[in-house]
Amino acid sequence: MELSGKRVLLIIGGGIAAYKALELIRRLKDAGASVHAILTAAGAQFITSLSVSALSGERTYQELFDLTVESEMGHIALSRAADLLVVAPATADLMAKLAVGLAPDLASTALLATDKPVLLAPAMNVRMWQHPATRRNLAALTRDGIHIVGPNDGEMACGEFGQGRMAEPAEILAAITAILKPVNLAGIRALVTAGPTHEPIDPVRYLGNRSSGKQGYAIAEALFNAGAETVLVSGPVALTAAATSKLVRVETAIEMRDACEAALPVDIAICAAAVADWHVEHPHTTKLKKPNAPPSLVLVENPDILAELSHHPTARPKLVIGFAAETGNLLVNAAAKRAAKGCDWIIANDVSTDTQGKSVMGSDSNRVHLLSEAGAESWPLLSKRDVAQRLTAKIAQFFGRAA
Ligand code: PMT
Repeated sequence: MELSGKRVLLIIGGGIAAYKALELIRRLKDAGASVHAILTAAGAQFITSLSVSALSGERTYQELFDLTVESEMGHIALSRAADLLVVAPATADLMAKLAVGLAPDLASTALLATDKPVLLAPAMNVRMWQHPATRRNLAALTRDGIHIVGPNDGEMACGEFGQGRMAEPAEILAAITAILKPVNLAGIRALVTAGPTHEPIDPVRYLGNRSSGKQGYAIAEALFNAGAETVLVSGPVALTAAATSKLVRVETAIEMRDACEAALPVDIAICAAAVADWHVEHPHTTKLKKPNAPPSLVLVENPDILAELSHHPTARPKLVIGFAAETGNLLVNAAAKRAAKGCDWIIANDVSTDTQGKSVMGSDSNRVHLLSEAGAESWPLLSKRDVAQRLTAKIAQFFGRAA
């Protein structure tokens, strides 16, 4: 059983999705985990502690200052005895408390007192999810290393449609497994590209794009943390140095291609960079002046690093993974890109801007689809770190290294 011996502390917040927490307990138990649960006062409006205990086989905790609980197991011990804390559903209120460090009740106290990883499965009305306060809290929680799964799009109990439905129990279980199942990639060499490239027009101007490097850096760090010797080739980004074996900073697509070539041989190559497709044929050596007529720029195609790695004549990595950044026909275009570039897997993500002008580029979360020979696998909305962790687990499976 996948989660044998693992202990999960499940915090059930108040929301109609609380009923799905019962299904999650059943799935966790089937996977071999033991489950203790805290049912918040709001959660208890939707489901009973009796049904939680009946499924978990353990007593359900509800009050912060319960003398019996404190004498059996204090709230600090409760939060530390677990291998993972899962909040499902995670309400806007619980997220806000955790983001600022408030602890007025047992659930928020356990979250603040723990020294273990925390996974949130948010569920709320779409407007609450989109509210700037929730966005700020989400960003702060992601920065603090909290794992996030969902929410999904769909019709909500309140009758509105949009993003806010809690991830399904199977999706939450997959996120839990990715966090709790250690993988070992020792002895594997990995190459990751990240960030944009800047193609100079003159000494002060360039052609570029909005990639922040977050997704590529998260992948490089996850591989490195799993024991892989990892070379990260990064375009110009504002991120601080990543935890990797080697970080090579480059500016242009040609420099990125040369740095990748120099990193070979590797076992895995993951091209997460948003490489400019073209560069200016003859960049000006002095700053172009505005009073002159607007310059016409002659663009020349850049090398396609992913295609070159996929067709490398002498050192093709055993596993080549590309990304497809699309604004329409996501899966169809991604499948065509996988075939055209010759990579083994392609990770499709939609980079269109939402109603608030936000895009995957630069944000902290991503909803991806993994396309391989076996077909397409859709993952729920995850933090970029969780996408990286899940991808690392997939890579470990490929190399027969899954725990
Ligand atoms: O950096 P973030 O802000 O975290 O955002 C992450 C991301 C959206 C940039 C990332 O998830 C992503 O989608 N990266 C690929 C962006 C891209 O350029 O996609 P594409 O569909 O244009 O290219 C397809 C693949 O070919 C990519 O793997 C790309 O790295 C590669 N490529 C493209 C052109 C080129 N000249 N050389 C390449 O290697």
